[in-house]
Parts: sequence; C-alpha cells; structure tokens
Amino acid sequence: MNIDILLGLQWGDEGKGKLVDALSPEYDVIARFQGGPNAGHSLEFNNIKHVLHLIPSGIFHPDKLNIIGNGVVIDPAVFKKEIDELKPYAADLTKRLVVSTRANLILPTHRILDAAYEQQKGNTKIGSTLKGIGPAYTDKTGRSGLRVGDILRSDFMDLYKASINRHLAILKNYNFSFDLTEFEKGWFEGINLLKEFRIINTEYLVNQLAASGKRILAEGAQGTMLDVDFGSYPFVTSSNTVSAGACTGLGISPKSIGEVYGIFKAYCTRVGSGPFPTELEDETGDELRNTGREFGATTGRPRRCGWLDLPALKYSIMLNGTTKLFMTKADVMSGFKSIKICTAYNINGKEINELPFGNESVIEPVYTELPGWQKEISAIRDYKNLPAELTRFIEFIENYCDVPVTLVSVGPDREETIFR
Ligand code: GDP
Ligand code: IMO
Ligand code: MG
Repeated sequence: MNIDILLGLQWGDEGKGKLVDALSPEYDVIARFQGGPNAGHSLEFNNIKHVLHLIPSGIFHPDKLNIIGNGVVIDPAVFKKEIDELKPYAADLTKRLVVSTRANLILPTHRILDAAYEQQKGNTKIGSTLKGIGPAYTDKTGRSGLRVGDILRSDFMDLYKASINRHLAILKNYNFSFDLTEFEKGWFEGINLLKEFRIINTEYLVNQLAASGKRILAEGAQGTMLDVDFGSYPFVTSSNTVSAGACTGLGISPKSIGEVYGIFKAYCTRVGSGPFPTELEDETGDELRNTGREFGATTGRPRRCGWLDLPALKYSIMLNGTTKLFMTKADVMSGFKSIKICTAYNINGKEINELPFGNESVIEPVYTELPGWQKEISAIRDYKNLPAELTRFIEFIENYCDVPVTLVSVGPDREETIFR
C-alpha cells in the first residue's frame, strides 16, 4: 500500500506540479503515468518558476528517483528541450531519471497529423495542444506505435521510416502544408539524448521499489474531466487520466495503491473546446483569469474560467476513489464579496446532479452563494488562521463531497502550502 496517486479532478491545471514538488520530500520516487507534452506542470521556489511537460515534478529534489512510465507518450524533441532547461537546476539527471521501454514515441508526423486533423475539424475542433497526443495514442492502441525501447534496435531507422511513410500517405488526403525536416532535426537530437538515460522495463523497477518499502508518488497529467472515457468526449485528451490509469501506466496492481490525492481549484478553468457549465464570460471570469494568471503553461492560451462545479467534482471523486482533497488557488478569490458554487444542474427544467452523457444539453448551473473572504491569505501557514468565510467554503465542499480537504494551497510557491 505504499504507492499514492496525485491527480487533477477538473479540466487540468489544478496545480499538480506545485503539489507534487511540495509533497516530494515525503517520497522516494515520483512517477508520471500518462499523458505527454500536452501537460504543463508549473512549480515555483526561490522566486523561479519552472514548467515541466514530460519530466516528473520530483526532479528538483536531488535525492529522488523520477520515472517516466509506460503510459506516457514521449516526444524526444520536447524531452531534449526540457533536459537542457533543467541542467542548471538539477544535477545527475541521467542517474535520477528513468524511462520506460514501453512508453510510446510521438513522431514528428504525429504532431503534423494532430494539426491537420484539427484544421479539418474547423468549428468542431477539440482545441488540442497540437503536441501530437491524439495521433500517438491512436497508433498505440492501433498497434502501430514505436516505443522508447525500439530506439535501441539496430533496425530502428527502418521502423521509423515505415511509420513516417504511413503517416505521409494519410496526410496526402489533407490540404495541409508542412516541413517534416524542420521537426526531424530536434527529434533525432532527442533520440540521441534519450539513449544516455536508463531505458528499462520500469514496471519491474516500480514493483521492486514498492516491495522494498520505498514510497512512490504517481503523478497524473491533465484532469479527470479530460479522461478519454469519462470526460466530455470528444473534447477530451487521449489517455485515462483517472486513478486506474496509474495501474496501466506504471504496471502496478490496484492493491498497491494507498492514498488517492485529488486536486481541485477553488474555481474552475478549462483550455480548449467543450462544455463548461459554470463558465463566466464576463468581468468575474476576466478577474479570475487575470488574478489567477490563467494562461496555459504549454500553449499560452487564455484559460476559460468559471465557478466551482460540485457535481463535476463529486463525479471525479467517485471515479478516482479519491481519499483526500487538496484545494488550490483560494488566494485568487480573496476580495470577492460573494462566491458562487454550483451544486446541481438544471436541464430542461429538471434539477439533477449527474453529468449528462452527451454535450448537447443546455445546462443551467444551480448556485449556492457564500460570502467571500476579504483578506489576503498567501502568508498564512496555519489552517486555523484562515478567514472564517474560507473555512466555511471548505466545509461546504467537504459536506457535499464527503471527502476531507487536507491541504490548502495559498500561492504558487512551494512554501505557500497549508497542511491540515
Ligand atoms: P498543473 O498542470 O496542474 O501542474 O497546473 P499548471 O502549472 O498548469 O497551472 C497552475 C498554475 O497555478 C501555475 O501557474 C501555478 O504556479 C499556479 N498555482 C498553483 N497553486 C497555486 C495557488 O494555490 N495559488 C496561486 N495563486 N497559484 C497557484
Ligand atoms: P496539465 O497536465 C489543461 C486539453 C487541451 C484540449 C484537450 C485535448 O497541464 O493539467 P490534447 O493535446 O491532449 O489532444 O488536447 O485537452 N489539455 C489540457 N488542458 N491541462 C492539461 O495538462 C492539458 N492537456 C491537454 O487543451 O482541450
Ligand atoms: Mg498545466
């Protein structure tokens, strides 16, 4: 029972990077289990902000082992860029970062296909990060993917060329111009760099470490509402972002899971297309975006902002078996006179609190209004010093969701964290 999972309960960007980094001292190993460079996990300490895409957020702690699991899709070009940026801040990277043989590769043509598919979708586009995620996972489940272990094979170039030719044949059907050679240079530099790292069957390593009593934290990417099965399909990512994804993405049994930490913001954000019942397309939404600096860590796109959605949060909690809740960004709402929380949906005059199957329903959120906290909270480190309005807000969430909030994040810095 010594593998804990930390994952997002909303549409991503809940603050996973910050909290994995803040919790890392309690663990020996940090392991990413799904997603790829679509993720942008920010962490801050010593007044510097770092953004990680593929590399687990435990990397800044010199005594921790970091694992990129089989469930992750890796773009070698992004990997290289990230390693180059990390070098001044993190020593011994080739010793402390291990990559699964079974992690699938994002090829340069996956990125091109992602862009071509999105262009063809026009108004119905998903708003993908254009990192090649959908096409890479498509090849994985279509049993045509290339995996990190393949780069060590003597015939790797033949396999690579066969995949590229297959993709180029598909691209002929799209009116989409691109320059493959531009992508390939960085990609092959990344392949060479990957070979300097330990490429192993990490499922054995993770299980051996767990059996020997090492504490492991599995780091999720994206959020539950972007899960390929349970999110607002097709406006989702292409992996299972829920806790079950940690089992398939690392090769661990459900019996080995201890805590499931679910992170949520005190409000909601979403990047890309798709339903967002509590979205605020008004001044309050702008205020959340500006104060919360809600711009994508991977694409820089402005995030759509809205009130906290409890039916969606409770759904996520159920799907993940969440044992503890971590709340971030309450500091962003400091000064709000009153704060709304969605407790149910009104669909065709009927009040429900289940998420509907399709995306066609017009959902009217049913709100409860609570008084806001008229106080800056970022310097507070003790739960009992939080304003009464905020603890009341937290109790309201706990009562609705029936799971305790055991951590409150009050700013982006590692130190701006209250353990309850
Ligand atoms: P992730 O993808 O879940 O790791 O989240 P992102 O890094 O994409 O987005 C979260 C953003 O909020 C980052 O800019 C963080 O530095 C920042 N952040 C995290 N926790 C807090 C918090 O409690 N308060 C504030 N103001 N910012 C936070
Ligand atoms: P982190 O780990 C927020 C969104 C995209 C798009 C949809 C599909 O930082 O929380 P994809 O590129 O996966 O095909 O895009 O999913 N998306 C994210 N939104 N945070 C993320 O990751 C995301 N990764 C993908 O905006 O709507
Ligand atoms: Mg992010």
